[in-house]
Amino acid sequence: MKEERRYLTFALGKGRLADKTMELLESVGITCEEMKDKHSRKLIFVNEELGLKFFLSKNPDVPTYVEYGAADIGVVGSDILREENKRVYEVLDLGFGKCRMCVCGPREAQVLLQHHEMIRVASKYPNTAKDYFYNKKHQTVDIIKLNGSVELGPIVKLSDVIVDIVETGSTLRENGLDVLEEICPISARMIVNRVSMQMEAERIRNMIGMLRDKIG
Ligand code: PRP
Repeated sequence: MKEERRYLTFALGKGRLADKTMELLESVGITCEEMKDKHSRKLIFVNEELGLKFFLSKNPDVPTYVEYGAADIGVVGSDILREENKRVYEVLDLGFGKCRMCVCGPREAQVLLQHHEMIRVASKYPNTAKDYFYNKKHQTVDIIKLNGSVELGPIVKLSDVIVDIVETGSTLRENGLDVLEEICPISARMIVNRVSMQMEAERIRNMIGMLRDKIG
């Protein structure tokens, strides 16, 4: 009796990252027609022929789905991986979704950084901010967790600086803020569940190989 092939499930971060990922997958013959219907309210999309399932989630949840094995494979920014520190294999830098993790603020705040003052840092990435200030700069700071529109922090005097991602820099410019220090570059990564990597080694390795060749 023929053994039934197991579905491989992908978790993708909603938005531009998912669109870019589907473009890349499509270029190596991995498609999902169902996903192209932007009006669909379905949460899971299937390609029966290839034995693949796809679902979209909030970006910070992608590593969680992959760590617990609810998804075999995920695509997420390295900003999230660094912040969440989940037990998953990071297998490929996809080369898109590029931006920078930076300390930003009004220019006057530069001196506070230079003098290692006890400052307030607002961020959606408290672990990343803590690691940078405590372990790299050896500066004691007060970290305030925010969930978005972090640039407001210095403007309304909640914080002296922020730690956030900068892509085009236009949010900073429009709010009179600057990049003060650069922490690290960011890009989209493919991650794989540890058990799936053993159990579905051939299918996953083939896919990684095709993508790696494509990315160059
Ligand atoms: C991100 C980030 C910055 C902005 C940077 O926010 O937190 O605010 O994009 O991009 P830019 O350099 O091209 O202006 P996002 O749009 O995800 O919204 P949020 O702040 O509400 O999380």
